[in-house]
Amino acid sequence: MCGIVGYIGKQAAASVLLDGLRRLEYRGYDSAGISIRNGEGFQTLKRTGRVQDLYQEAMRAPDAGTIGISHTRWATHGGVTNQNAHPHLSHDGRLSLVHNGVIENYGLIKRELIGKGVEFESETDSETLVNLIALLYAAELQDPVNEGKPREALMKALRAALAQVEGTYGIALLCADMPDLLFGARKGSPLVIGVGNGENFLASDVTAFAGRTQNVVYLDDGQLAVLSQEDFSVTTLDEVAISPVVDTISWDIEDAELGSYTHFMQKEIFEQPMALENAMRGRFSQDGSTAQFGGLNIEPRELRQVDRILFLGCGTAWHACLVAEYLIEKFARIPVEVEYSSEFRYRNAPLEKNTLVFTLSQSGETIDTLEAQREAQRKGYRVLGITNVVGSTIARENDGGIYQHSGPEIGVASTKAFTAQCHIAAMLGLYFGRMRDMSYSDGCTMVSALRKAPGLIAQALSQAEKIEAIAKKYARFEDFLFLGRQLMFPIALEGALKLKEISYIHAEGYPAAEMKHGPIALISPECPTVAIALKGEIYKKSLANIQEIKARRGPVIAITDAGKEFPQDLADEVIHLPETHEVNHAVLVSVPMQLLSYYIAVERACDVDKPRNLAKSVTVE
Ligand code: M6R
Repeated sequence: MCGIVGYIGKQAAASVLLDGLRRLEYRGYDSAGISIRNGEGFQTLKRTGRVQDLYQEAMRAPDAGTIGISHTRWATHGGVTNQNAHPHLSHDGRLSLVHNGVIENYGLIKRELIGKGVEFESETDSETLVNLIALLYAAELQDPVNEGKPREALMKALRAALAQVEGTYGIALLCADMPDLLFGARKGSPLVIGVGNGENFLASDVTAFAGRTQNVVYLDDGQLAVLSQEDFSVTTLDEVAISPVVDTISWDIEDAELGSYTHFMQKEIFEQPMALENAMRGRFSQDGSTAQFGGLNIEPRELRQVDRILFLGCGTAWHACLVAEYLIEKFARIPVEVEYSSEFRYRNAPLEKNTLVFTLSQSGETIDTLEAQREAQRKGYRVLGITNVVGSTIARENDGGIYQHSGPEIGVASTKAFTAQCHIAAMLGLYFGRMRDMSYSDGCTMVSALRKAPGLIAQALSQAEKIEAIAKKYARFEDFLFLGRQLMFPIALEGALKLKEISYIHAEGYPAAEMKHGPIALISPECPTVAIALKGEIYKKSLANIQEIKARRGPVIAITDAGKEFPQDLADEVIHLPETHEVNHAVLVSVPMQLLSYYIAVERACDVDKPRNLAKSVTVE
């Protein structure tokens, strides 16, 4: 939540910052602001609304300054107002700060600062932080030891202030006294340095400087950074110098741009065949009978000792955890449990000794999942992660894991990251299964089935026009049900979540047979049901569930792989999918669900990529 971009270099900072901010807007979009070091102070512009609005205003009289900071906000403390937008200037006008995170003890600090005569303009915790730093900085400047050394004085003040605050922060800070330095620090909120040629960047994530540099340093919690045009240094809060590792970003600017698509969500839905190819690349054994993963950091012998697996995640990632539960239990016969990260971290659940923990997170920054991971590690469990964002905090802190390689996912509604997670879950089912009772030939069958997934998804995508027409017909309804059984239950939950988050339609997912135990009361001509009916053991039962809905005059959109076998008049609309091995069902059925939600949201003129109240990565509790 909240995006930060800082720049120091030779170019006009305003356009670099606004360009970066545009790419970070998915992190928060209720207000935005920019501060450029100018003359003796700062030129600061901030306002509610989108980055585009700020851009237009800033470009009316662009500032030529070459150092600046900027922010796109997702409000936590204080309403959505111009005053509460970042950057925040200190009371003496010396410092300008952007902040991502929450300062939990800001009330107490603010009262103390008010007692010392500091006046506040906003309701934010961030303004408290910048004023605290400013007051400490002013005191340090009085100290003869710091005479003529404003950098040392500010670093001391910064360290002292950060030691006082409780909570989380990723900050970028400018000081009027030092026109050639940019300061940053992080604890709990991501911050990276983009290392350029004669220019450097500070940002919440690498998309901010995509196209300008591929070189990145991921800061750890408790680290401070000082950037100049040509150089940067990193130290810890207790002044230990760090030798930073410069990594290379593996994707390029086109991956983070819309190209010919109207929305990122649309682009990402259509990127799914490639995302699945990437998730599989190099991950099958040469004999084609099992999966292999390079980064687990755990010997197969140890994995064979695992008696239970616990999956942790939030939102869509939690749905992927449920898919993993089903597939691993079915193909590997290992008991699997799934918990919401946010519940696990406070629940103190008793875990069996040989439990292996997996955290799932597209962003790798979701605070609940990060803290759940830390809690499991504190308890001595080995935690493996499935994450998309390379170098994210969850990926760096876990004991090993699997990168999804889905490419940047910018639409707030997760699509390609979800199906990649489901596909990796299927590969894990195969991997663990082959370590146990799955035969060589069953392993080979599964590998060749998994390899077909991209082509199957492409077939599902080819029905986009038909699904768009269905979406237009049903976009006016305010309530939807999504039904699926067994493996299709989490897919029904995910279908419902997609629809609610981008079109604000009330939607619920249920295992179809549960209908009779309550939800059937909702069925009426005004409540359409999206029903998944795939061939197999419970196909007939799924048809019976659809009958029950039709009997109550509920409109039905069916998704099936039964072809002509599917009774013609049973549903109002039928979306046909190709028949395939069960390991591909989760990814395949997700596609028409995503398209349906997408086109309904477009029809309702909703802001698909930036739905109200949401942000892409949830880094506050
Ligand atoms: O980055 P993560 O996978 O940890 O994010 C978890 C959820 O916040 C995320 O999946 C959220 O539910 C999305 N908006 C779903 O589309």
